[in-house]
Amino acid sequence: MPGKFPALDVLVPPHIRKIEPYIPSKPDAVLKEMYGCSTLHRLNNNENALGPTTAALAAIKNFDPVQAAVYPSGDAYFLRCRLGERFGLSPDAFLVGNGANEVIAFAINAFCQKGDNIITADKTFAVYEWVAEFSGFEAKLIPLKDYGFDDQAMLSAIDERTKIVFVCNPNNPTGTYWNKERLKAFLDKIDGRTIVVVDEAYSEFVEAPDFPDCMELIKDYPNLVVFRTFSKMFGLAALRIGYLAGSLEVVDVIRRTCVVYSVNALAQTAALATLIDADEHMAKTRAMIRESRNYLTSELTCLNIPFIAGEGSYVIIRLPMSDMLIYRKLMRLGYMVRTMTGFRFPNHIRVTLQPLPVMEGFIKALTEVLKK
Ligand SMILES: Cc1ncc(COP(=O)(O)O)c(C=O)c1O
Repeated sequence: MPGKFPALDVLVPPHIRKIEPYIPSKPDAVLKEMYGCSTLHRLNNNENALGPTTAALAAIKNFDPVQAAVYPSGDAYFLRCRLGERFGLSPDAFLVGNGANEVIAFAINAFCQKGDNIITADKTFAVYEWVAEFSGFEAKLIPLKDYGFDDQAMLSAIDERTKIVFVCNPNNPTGTYWNKERLKAFLDKIDGRTIVVVDEAYSEFVEAPDFPDCMELIKDYPNLVVFRTFSKMFGLAALRIGYLAGSLEVVDVIRRTCVVYSVNALAQTAALATLIDADEHMAKTRAMIRESRNYLTSELTCLNIPFIAGEGSYVIIRLPMSDMLIYRKLMRLGYMVRTMTGFRFPNHIRVTLQPLPVMEGFIKALTEVLKK
């Protein structure tokens, strides 16, 4: 019968049947109409309100549209060369992906087979867990301890089928981090038994002097893989570009699962230009984030609203009501936040730090919706 597909049930593997699809938020224009707001401040995705670097902006503007017809470099050749110079590693120590999200899948597919597992935290960036599960592997989720990754419990959870341990440093969404001593002690105890991925998507925001430089640790720990992205600090989220770095032997394995040509030419051009003035942009952005974090946390303290503010470009706020309800109320006032129930933090929202005037408006809106 037309429209019926009885074989579908048989075609779908059981581990896929269990999965709920992730529904991204609607485009801003649609949301504005739905909630009746004329402006919308996006405090939901940890985007950099200062945008791309000056050099990246120029590179995007000067991108020759005719080049749209030509395939990009299949392995981001020039970008890997510049990354190699910046971090003192071989260009072959890098794999560039369509956002750091894509390299998560490269790593998992390279090392896991049926019956294997990965280990990560229960309240962290969920894509490690999702990719493992929809690829048919178990994700062992270790509860956070004092809002941070619990190194001892993670070590105890390792078994002979554990292939990768994912550590988000600093953690999204709690902002906690392992310092160099703690990370090195963890890597020493793992002693090369598993791959250790340290996701440093927010590392460029961290100012603490004891924060580890994972790019340097790669020389001592060949099982260490580092993730970075151009989406957060460097304001290229729309272009989708991120990368991993590791020892030549490990990257050579991961390269086998890597989708070549997945990173478009404009993204490669903009990322390459970013490295020209990355340090200036980091200094400017860090100053903005510092000022906004200080403002937001002191206002929340005055209002007696509990929060978790660590490193990174975000703060989580605990509320006396459902996060979905507060989301809808804030949307009507033009502030889009991230509900945290999906991160296993019910009644919490995560707020991206943006320049002071936006934070002032947000506090005003939050006060108003909590009064009602
Ligand atoms: C911790 C963490 N890792 C990786 C990513 C993926 O970044 P992208 O795919 O935009 O490079 C994100 C994005 O939110 C993140 O928060």
